[in-house]
Amino acid sequence: MSTTETDDWADLCALSDVPEIGGAYVVHNDHGVAVFRSGDDQVRVLDDACPHAGGSLSGGHIHDGCVVCPWHGWPFDAQTGQCPDNPAVMVNTYPSRIVAGRVEAKMQNKTQS
Ligand code: FES
Repeated sequence: MSTTETDDWADLCALSDVPEIGGAYVVHNDHGVAVFRSGDDQVRVLDDACPHAGGSLSGGHIHDGCVVCPWHGWPFDAQTGQCPDNPAVMVNTYPSRIVAGRVEAKMQNKTQS
């Protein structure tokens, strides 16, 4: 799945591409991100690669507000990217919104470098 840019919001995918349970894998400028629906009718966008051992977070699920990695179960806060079990471990998250059934994100505004 490829993406396009509109202003500083990047069009990532259709909301319908994001499953109700689990995530969608999207490539933006050769960078893989995971897109999840959250319980508040919003979406969460974060880097797809798990910092533990590179598991694909889009293959995980959201539990208690955290994306749970499918490989070894590390959780990452879906909004901040912080691992509650080890606050020194984070994944980048990106501001996101839904516009006319499309998922958009500010990919230059990641939470960490
Ligand atoms: S690769 Fe994600 S928890 Fe191990």
